Amino acid sequence: MPDKTTRTRTVDWADGKVRLIDQTRLPAEFVLIDLETPEAVADAIRTMKVRGAPAIGVTAALGLALAAEQARDLEPAAFRERIATAAALLRTTRPTAVNLFWAIDRILALGQRDAAEPARAAAEMLREAQAMLDEDEAANRALGRHGAALLPESANVLTHCNAGALATVAYGTALGVVRAAVEAGKRLHVYVDETRPRLQGMQLTAWEMLQEGIPATLITDNMAPWLMRQGRIDAVVVGADRIAANGDTANKIGTYGVAVAARAHGIPFYVAAPVSTIDASLATGAEIPIEQRPPEEVTSPGATLLAPRGIAVYNPAFDVTPAGLITALITERGVATPPNSETITALLA
Ligand code: MRU
Repeated sequence: MPDKTTRTRTVDWADGKVRLIDQTRLPAEFVLIDLETPEAVADAIRTMKVRGAPAIGVTAALGLALAAEQARDLEPAAFRERIATAAALLRTTRPTAVNLFWAIDRILALGQRDAAEPARAAAEMLREAQAMLDEDEAANRALGRHGAALLPESANVLTHCNAGALATVAYGTALGVVRAAVEAGKRLHVYVDETRPRLQGMQLTAWEMLQEGIPATLITDNMAPWLMRQGRIDAVVVGADRIAANGDTANKIGTYGVAVAARAHGIPFYVAAPVSTIDASLATGAEIPIEQRPPEEVTSPGATLLAPRGIAVYNPAFDVTPAGLITALITERGVATPPNSETITALLA
C-alpha cells in the first residue's frame, strides 16, 4: 500500500499559505513547509524545494494568488502593481519549464481583468489557482492511462530525473504512466537513472518507487546504454519541461543521451507530459531557453567539494531531444505518434 507521504500533495493551499513538500530534504526527511509571501515562493522554486515543470507552474500560480490575497484591501492601481511585481518576480525563477509562464499568465490575466475590484479579483485568482491543483492530478491520471496502454504486460522501464508525484501536484507524468500500468496489472520494474548533478532520480524517484512498492533499481547515468545493450530495458519513459511545436523536447540534462542510446538499440522512447508543457509559440527546440545552474551543483555533490578548486564548470540543467528520437508523446488528450507539427497541432485542436 502507498505510504501516506506519497498521497500528500507536492504543493497545496493550506491556512492561507502555500504548502510544499521540501524536496531538498528528501529522502532523509519528509518535511512540509508553509510559505507566507510571494518572495518565499519564488525562492522555493529557485532553490528547488519544489521542482518539476507542472509542480513549478502550480506553485507559481498559488504564489501569485497569495500576493493578490495580501493586496486585496489596496486601491485598484496599487493592487494591479502588486500582482504585476509578484508575477515578474516569479517569472525569473526557472526559465526552461514553460508551465511556469503558462500558469502565471493564466492567473495574472484574471487579476488584471477584475482589478477594479481587488477583493473579487483576489478571490478569483485563488479559485483558479486551486482549480489547477485538481486539473493537474486529473491530467496525470489521464495521460497515465494513455501511456500504460503502450507498455507490454511485463517490462523493464528506464526513467531519468523525477517526473513523478513530486514533480507534479500528485501521481506524476512519466511515473504516472508507470503507476497506471501497475494499477492495470502490468508487471513493471523501473531502472532509475541517478540523474547528475542534482540527483533527482536517486533522491526522489527512488524514494517514490519505494513508497509505492514498485520494484525499482538505481543505476548511475552512465550505465543506461550498457543495460540497453544487454537487453535489460524494454522502454524509456521521461517527462518534459518544454515541448516545441515540432515535438523537440527539453527535459533534464542527460535525457538526450538516453534517447540516442534508445534509438541505437531499437528501444521505444516515450515522453509523458500535460499539454500545458507544449509551447506552440516555438517552432523548434533550438528556441527553448536552457537554464544554467550554479557550478557547485557539479563540483560539490551533497554539498561536499569533490573537484579541484578553480576548475571551470558548465552546468546546463536541461537538454533538447529532437522529435525524431521520440517514439510518442503521451498527453492527457491522447498520444502523438510520432510527435511532429501535424500530430501536435491535432492534439491541441
Ligand atoms: O530541474 P528539475 O528537477 O525541475 O527538472 C525536472 C525535469 O526535468 C522533469 O523531467 C520535468 O520537469 C517533468 S516533471 C513531470
